[in-house]
Amino acid sequence: MEQTIIKGLPVGICIVNSKGEVRCLNDRWFSYLEFDGEQETLIGQKILEIFWIPRQIKIGVQKLLNQKKGSFVFSEIQLDELYIKAKGIYIDNSVIITLDDISVTKKVQFESLKKILRAQEMERRKIAKELHDGIGPLLSASILQLDTFMLETKNENLLSVKEILEDVSTEIRNISHNLLPATLMDFGLVKAIELLVEKLNNKAKCSFNFYAKGHFLELEKQTSLNIYRIIQELINNVVRHSEARNCFVQLIEHEETILLTVEDDGIGINDFSTLSNNKRKGIGFRNLRSRVQILEGTIHIDTAENKGLLTTIEIPLPYNFDET
Ligand SMILES: Nc1ncnc2c1ncn2[C@@H]1O[C@H](COP(=O)(O)OP(=O)(O)O)[C@@H](O)[C@H]1O
Ligand SMILES: [Mg+2]
Repeated sequence: MEQTIIKGLPVGICIVNSKGEVRCLNDRWFSYLEFDGEQETLIGQKILEIFWIPRQIKIGVQKLLNQKKGSFVFSEIQLDELYIKAKGIYIDNSVIITLDDISVTKKVQFESLKKILRAQEMERRKIAKELHDGIGPLLSASILQLDTFMLETKNENLLSVKEILEDVSTEIRNISHNLLPATLMDFGLVKAIELLVEKLNNKAKCSFNFYAKGHFLELEKQTSLNIYRIIQELINNVVRHSEARNCFVQLIEHEETILLTVEDDGIGINDFSTLSNNKRKGIGFRNLRSRVQILEGTIHIDTAENKGLLTTIEIPLPYNFDET
């Protein structure tokens, strides 16, 4: 009876009794989890012992079986190409688990994310250009005029004004360079990061070391820009938050992947998991994850209080992200 009801449902479904034994499941459940054995063989088996059931689902089911009430939702479980939403609920001495295919929604989200980041880069480029080409020359002209004025009147009183204007001019060049890393486009990723690190070593308390291995020649423009932004954010975090004395940045090209690590020996983060739930904080980390996602890479962050922070990112090759 149950089996007949769940057969044609548009979601993957599995019902487990209070001992955790599978009572029934439908075809969709199988196709989502890519199990190609006989359905019947699973009836009566303990769900927690079935190896191909995703770990999160098992943890959720275990919790419901222990509590004998409640529910769980995992809004995103990745199974190869497929993105699944899993829900579980304890009713009438049973756990009902449903699986929804959300791959299409994910794909739409991913595409719009790509567009947003691209638009953001374009906007940055525009602002950088205006600062550099518009305000930069005006400032230089003012400084020149001040110089002439001071020379003609033999008046040194305005020297401090000139110094401020020079600082403003340097600051604007720095801002526009951060917005549009010209070195990245002209000399490539490694040189651009070398310069970034060099500039910081001149003014930050922390000592930055950068090690690169590989040519990174085949990188698409958009890919190197994404990697550069990722490193920029991680390094900025070290400067702003870590209180570290040393920071190591490594960019290594393997045959099939690029491995990027940024490690500092600073104060670390006490409870990293609560940070990801804090929407106001963590915007940097969120953007970082989006960029890694666009590069189809993986990111792992390892940190504890006073144990520094290590970010490991792996990006698969080949790169083909410049297509629109
Ligand atoms: N390297 C680090 N060492 C210690 N704390 C860090 C480090 N990086 C980030 N954090 C902490 O994580 C928080 C979130 O970082 P992030 O998402 O980049 O946002 P933001 O930099 O805008 O604060 C920071 O506010 C800081 O408290
Ligand atoms: Mg940040």
